[in-house]
Amino acid sequence: MSEPNTSAFSIDLCQMVDLPKIHEPRGNLTFIEGGNHVPFDIQRVYYLYDVPGGSERGGHAHRGLHQLIIAMSGSFDVVLDDGKDKKRVHLNRSYNGLYVCPMIWRELDNFSSGSVCMVLASNRYDEADYYRDYGEFMRARWKA
Ligand code: TYD
Repeated sequence: MSEPNTSAFSIDLCQMVDLPKIHEPRGNLTFIEGGNHVPFDIQRVYYLYDVPGGSERGGHAHRGLHQLIIAMSGSFDVVLDDGKDKKRVHLNRSYNGLYVCPMIWRELDNFSSGSVCMVLASNRYDEADYYRDYGEFMRARWKA
């Protein structure tokens, strides 16, 4: 069996990032610097909130976008799929981020009540950067 043509982007690259945490009796503080704590410059921030119980988000991949996903409040799971391997990551700490490289199909589920999912992204929103069809994503992954 041949390897994916974009095998440089595998789920092995999608690792947890430990963010700085300033712990004080009056409360904790975490900060994120583009190009320092995340391996890309941050061009966009968006967040998911008021997610109904049982809902799923994601269900797509990006051609070139790099992202860091953080559970700012509550918890949820991210299922990563590079066309060859899959892994499920549980996020529940606001000082941990999950880096997701391009060409990874991702689904988010298991949202706890009141959870907030913040995403730092390497580019502005561009619908042309999405694969929204899993078959198209797999063909792009495995074409010779
Ligand atoms: P989508 O990326 O599909 O959401 P999710 O992956 O969390 O399920 O986006 C949902 C809708 O929001 C879609 O119509 C595109 C729009 N959108 C923007 O306009 N700007 C953005 O930065 C994002 C992430 C989405």
